[in-house]
Amino acid sequence: MGQPSHAPKDHEDHDWWRSAVIYQVYVRSFADSDGDGTGDLAGVRARLPYLAELGVDALWFSPWYPSPMKDGGYDVADYRAIDPAFGTLAEAEKLIAEARELGIRTIVDIVPNHVSDQHPWFQAASTAGPGSPERELFHFRPGRGPGGDLPPNDWPSQFAGSTEPVWTRLPDGEWYLHLFTPEQPDLNWAHPAVRQEHEDILRFWFERGVAGVRIDSAALLAKDPDLPDLATRPRPHPFVDRDELHDVYRSWRAVADHYDGVFVGEVWLPDTERFARYLRPDELHTAFNFSFLSCPWDAARLRTSIDTTLAEHAPVGAPATWVLCNHDVTRTVTRYGREDTGFDFAAKAFGVPTDLALGTRRARAAALLTLALPGAVYVYQGEELGLPEAGIPADRIQDPMYFRSGGTDPGRDGCRVPLPWAAGAPHAGFGAGEEPWLPQPAGWESYAVDRQQDDADSVLALYRRAIALRPRFGDGPLTWLPAPEGVLAFTRAEGVTCVVNLAAAPAELPARSRLLIASGPLDDEGRLPQDTAAWLTD
Ligand code: NOJ
Repeated sequence: MGQPSHAPKDHEDHDWWRSAVIYQVYVRSFADSDGDGTGDLAGVRARLPYLAELGVDALWFSPWYPSPMKDGGYDVADYRAIDPAFGTLAEAEKLIAEARELGIRTIVDIVPNHVSDQHPWFQAASTAGPGSPERELFHFRPGRGPGGDLPPNDWPSQFAGSTEPVWTRLPDGEWYLHLFTPEQPDLNWAHPAVRQEHEDILRFWFERGVAGVRIDSAALLAKDPDLPDLATRPRPHPFVDRDELHDVYRSWRAVADHYDGVFVGEVWLPDTERFARYLRPDELHTAFNFSFLSCPWDAARLRTSIDTTLAEHAPVGAPATWVLCNHDVTRTVTRYGREDTGFDFAAKAFGVPTDLALGTRRARAAALLTLALPGAVYVYQGEELGLPEAGIPADRIQDPMYFRSGGTDPGRDGCRVPLPWAAGAPHAGFGAGEEPWLPQPAGWESYAVDRQQDDADSVLALYRRAIALRPRFGDGPLTWLPAPEGVLAFTRAEGVTCVVNLAAAPAELPARSRLLIASGPLDDEGRLPQDTAAWLTD
């Protein structure tokens, strides 16, 4: 059995991002050091040893900037500062440096499609009035119909399930575009000042030592200047995946290359050829693989998803990414315990039954599957603890997705609940003071880090061991091995094999192989039971 190694990673490894394990930190819910009920940077700094022990290569911080939190921080009021509830810029710099000392790089989250309505640019545009240069930084238009009382076009909200308009009218009569909430006005990316500002923001963070940038809503920035109705079926699409975007990202790449920085784009596009365009050598380094995240727990479909992913990345030479969950989607353990194990924003509903024991077994197997695949793997905070989606009482829900759907979509708070660190401590060790900003459900302490820490069978132990063993797969390509229906088996050279059994019948493991790690116990005959994965070596 290979021994986990926690030695600091090679500081000069320029290709680190091609096979990295990247841990997503949602600061607000990570660890609350000052007892105000909200996680903070000091909380993250105190837990860096935990993250180093987990063995991750980088931390991606969801937006940590000053924000009115109308959309969990994705409404940014100042891109060059830290929200006072989280800490200070000086503290962020310390955090970046301390993490780096432990071999952990930092990725910040930039939100270029929109700003907060409290951002100085929008404040100025609101007061400057119609026809002003300040308004040209956004999409302001007169309304339609008598008195201009109707929104300028028919675009739908980008929050699935939302029936709310994407236009809001100011008292002076003009409307402004916001693909998300009214507090998130969209920027006009045809304006040179918008481009200039974002390149400066990138430099600002690269100068502070960050290694990468996650780009929010990366395929939505460019808009058809005519803002045509979707009902007229305009082609190309007026706001999704427009060709002008590639020019933006080419200039971003030039900035990143100067600092040896990398990008990961949030690109939700079903068309794999269009998706791969963002990953051309002079554009983004990587993009999230949402088709894999959305894929049901089904061997044939997972295999197709993996093959399609690898095939779409190959021509552009970009590594794939593997994601099972993040701060926007139903937690893996809950999703895999349901009848429909896929993920679809449009299908989210309250009260869907789930079998958490089944979901956990599958999530453990999925962890070994993803960590064995070629490319980078994302782990969302709490995934390594096997946290389920939490039910949030209606009067505590904060997510605008819930409100903008008229209360039909449960929203995303259930995957954002503050982490449990210590079973016996107040608020399960998240913080010693006030009630956490989102309530932790009954029984949350059973997932606490200190409960899992010394338990060799815990989800945490599985993640730690698997991340430490992952380099055994080397950087070879994936080769499928013959396997019965419902079983996925592949190798990546160097004599290491991953087998995942999704079939009802137990699967034989390759003869003469040595077990490195398994997501659950083998049966009495040494076979791999259903919903279990194993890594083996010759
Ligand atoms: C994607 C982010 O992940 C999500 O949380 C946010 O609501 C939207 N973009 C809008 O910024």
